[in-house]
This record gives sequence, structure tokens and C-alpha cells, in this order.
Amino acid sequence: MAEKDYSKYFKKPNLKEAAKRGKERVKVINFDLPETMEKIGKGKKFLIDTFGCQMNVHDTEVMSGILQNMGFNHTKNEEEADIIILNTCAIRENAENKVFGKIGALKHLKRENPDLILGVCGCMSQEEKIVNTLLEKYQHVDLIFGTHNIHRLPEYLRDAYLNKERIVEVWSQEGDIVEHMPKRREGSVKAWVNITYGCDEFCTYCIVPFTRGKERSRLPKDIINEVRELAELGYKEVTLLGQNVNSYGKDFKDEKYGFGDLLNDLNKVDIPRVRFTTSHPKDFDDKSVAALGKGGNLVEHIHLPVQSGNTDVLKRMNRKYTREDYLELVRKLKETIPNVSLTTDIIVGFPNETDEQFEDTLSLVKEVGYEGAFTFIYSPREGTPAAKMKDNVPMEVKKERLQRLNKLVNEGYRKGHEQYKGQVVEVLCEGTSKNDDSILAGYTRTNKLVNFTGDTAAIGNLVKVKVTEARTWHLLGEQVYE
Ligand code: 5AD
Ligand code: SF4
Repeated sequence: MAEKDYSKYFKKPNLKEAAKRGKERVKVINFDLPETMEKIGKGKKFLIDTFGCQMNVHDTEVMSGILQNMGFNHTKNEEEADIIILNTCAIRENAENKVFGKIGALKHLKRENPDLILGVCGCMSQEEKIVNTLLEKYQHVDLIFGTHNIHRLPEYLRDAYLNKERIVEVWSQEGDIVEHMPKRREGSVKAWVNITYGCDEFCTYCIVPFTRGKERSRLPKDIINEVRELAELGYKEVTLLGQNVNSYGKDFKDEKYGFGDLLNDLNKVDIPRVRFTTSHPKDFDDKSVAALGKGGNLVEHIHLPVQSGNTDVLKRMNRKYTREDYLELVRKLKETIPNVSLTTDIIVGFPNETDEQFEDTLSLVKEVGYEGAFTFIYSPREGTPAAKMKDNVPMEVKKERLQRLNKLVNEGYRKGHEQYKGQVVEVLCEGTSKNDDSILAGYTRTNKLVNFTGDTAAIGNLVKVKVTEARTWHLLGEQVYE
């Protein structure tokens, strides 16, 4: 379809624009749904398919909330949906391929139901190349919007229904922080809470600073109030979300308030558990370490992506810490937080990574004693600095490295679980096990999955469980009654 056939909306993203960072603090505005839009979805159903990280999972909760306020009902069945939105991930090539596969697979639904609105949003929509591909090869996609304008969804849908036109509106740069967005949360026990949006780090391999914009911190009062409200609603755990939670507050102009302060303030809120993800080692300050040392509702699990155990590779990744800095932080964390469980993210096969440099990663993994890790083969992302680096490491070598690393990482999972054998642990029971209705399931403060026998009254509550067996991926146990 030629560009002139598009509606008033035709804004494509641009990665160069997206990389720009202004110094001004963004505005905080409140979400408001005009009354005229509250009935647009009456009698209609929506489905959102989510790819990628927790940030996307939570954005889906927000979009679902918006759609519900517009009168749409949720469905899990594609066949009966009037709107299907794919909330996409751009972090690695295989994530993008999965999305394209899904869009292709939805074509028949559009043929059967021409009134179906098929939308694509999320990180992939922020890439101009992807938007061009969608426009050229996937003409059954009706609506494309990005990560910065999900609060505009009501207008897009109104106009899509009114004008029957395709809508493409992706903002290259972030807009305001939008508070009071409605949310349709996935569970009633655990909840996600954004603390920052965007990322200013520009790790050389990473597309996120381009797709998610400049780093913006929510105001402390808005975060604390949201956690308080969740506690009042009966939620037992929140996970604070940010690409680099440790740089929280650095964009405040008049206030000196950082992540450590936020942790201290949240520790006073009456909610049993507070987690956070993701940490950046370079910004993990002593105040935050000390706050975590106080325990309370701040759990003993830290996801601390290292990416590589070699200082030269870290430098080329623009991570801004050395192997030694990282190990020093780990030492402090272990010293301050009793029984802390550390997990990480690691990339193997970064351009020109040598065997010796990879060995440094293995030795660091052993030294830290991670109890879990997400491991990835480096995937070039167009527009990032690393994508321009010449790479002399064959794919076969990268795959071998990944296998060797995973073996070691799995050993860490197993050891991490073994230490609990015979112990009584606190488990936040979320429901029954995926594979067996008669077994309950939940997580420890250190984020270990426990499958256990017990009373269904445990669901939604913190209970004590005696660990009877340790497996690689989970623990088995029996509820203990006091
Ligand atoms: N290739 C492979 N892995 C990547 N990650 C981010 N960008 C890339 C890439 N281009 C990994 C990092 C990050 C995690 C979320 O995804 O390890 O911490
Ligand atoms: Fe990507 Fe680095 Fe930002 Fe994490 S900190 S989102 S890896 S650029």
C-alpha cells in the first residue's frame, strides 16, 4: 500500500533520533479516558500476545487496563478476538523472528474476519527497518505504534474503527511520564511496578536505549503510593522494574533521592516482599547495599547482569566496570546480605571474544557462585555500535562456548537448590503446580521455585515449607503447620 493511503497518522521511527538525549526533565501527566471512548469496545473482545521481558509484560497489563476501560473484554481465544495486539521484543534476532512467524500465522484470521484489527507494538515497532518490512510484506497489520505512546491507544482504536484506515504512529523519542494508567494485572499475589522508563547506558550490543528512550524516573511518591495501594488490595510481592534500577533518581533536578532511598522507604510499607530488576553493577551504590542488608521486605535475591568476566570485553561492551569492580561489589553484597542469592545475564561470542576472554567468564561464574543465569549468544542489532564491529568468531565456536557455560550455570542452579535440603523456608504460594493440580507451587524470598504438598488455603499466602528434595530447576517440599 502506498504511503498516501494512510490516515492522518503516519509517523515512522528513526534510530538516530531515538539515540538523542535531552537534559530537560520530562513532565508527569495523568491518564484520562474521555467518556466518549468508554463504550467503543462494547461487545468486543481483545487479546494481547506478549513477547520479551517483564517491561513488556507490564506494558501489556497497562494496555489491557486501557482496553477494559474502553469496554472491551479480554479473551484467550484468537478466533473470537476483535483486536489482536502483538507486544514485541527486539533484543535478539530470534525474538524478532518469532514475532514475524506469529504475524504470518495470524493472516488467516484476518481473511476469515476482515473486521479484525491486528496491531503491532513494543520494541520492534521502534525500528524503522521493521516498520518498513511490516508495511511492505505484512499488509494485514492494521495498527503499528511504539513503546512511547501506548496511552494513545484509545484514539488509535477510535480512528481505526471510524476511518477503517491503517494507522502507523511511532514516536522516536520518549514523551511524558503518564501516571494513573489503568492496569489489568495478571495475578493477585505478585505485581510489577515501574520505577524508571528507558535507558541511558548504551551498552554497545543493546538496542534498548533506542527502543525505550531516555531514562526517566517516576516520582518517589507515585511509586510508594502504588505499592501501598497494591498492599491494601492484598498483593504480597512487588517487583520494581527499570532497565537500570540503580540509576533511579539521577534525572531528578531538585532532589537528591536515589535507589537506596527508595528501598529504605519501601521497606517501611506493609507488604511482605519487594524485588527489583534489573541492576547495573556500575551504579549499585553503598546506600543500596546497606538498605538491602537491613532485610525486612527487601528480599535476598539480586539479579546482577555481568555480561562478561573479562575487562577488555566489558570495555568494548561499554559496561563501565572491570572484572575486579564487579567482584568487589559481589563481595560487599555477600558480606552485607546474609544468604544472598545472585543470578546474572551473560553474552558469549561478543565480536572478537578470544578463548582466553571466554575462560575469564567461566572463572568468574565459578568465583561468584551464581545460582542462576540467562545466557545468550551475541546477536548483532542494526544501529548499535557493536553491529559495526568486525567479528572473527565463528558461530560454531559461539555455540560451543554457550554449551560449556550452560553446563557450569546449571551446576550453579543445582548447588543453589541443594543448600535448602532439610530446611524450612518461607514460600509465597501462587497456586497449583503447572503439571499437577494436587501440588502447590510458589517461590522463596531467594526466588527458588518450590512445589509442595499442603493445604489449598496456602494459595495467595506466605507459608512455611520443609524442603525434602532438591532438583536442578525446583525444590520439593511439604507444608509445615505451626
Ligand atoms: N545479543 C545477545 N544478548 C543481548 N542482550 C542484550 N542485547 C543483546 C544482544 N544484542 C542480553 C543481555 C541483557 C539481556 C536482557 O539480554 O545479557 O542483560
Ligand atoms: Fe541494554 Fe545496557 Fe541498558 Fe541493560 S543497561 S537495557 S544491557 S543498554
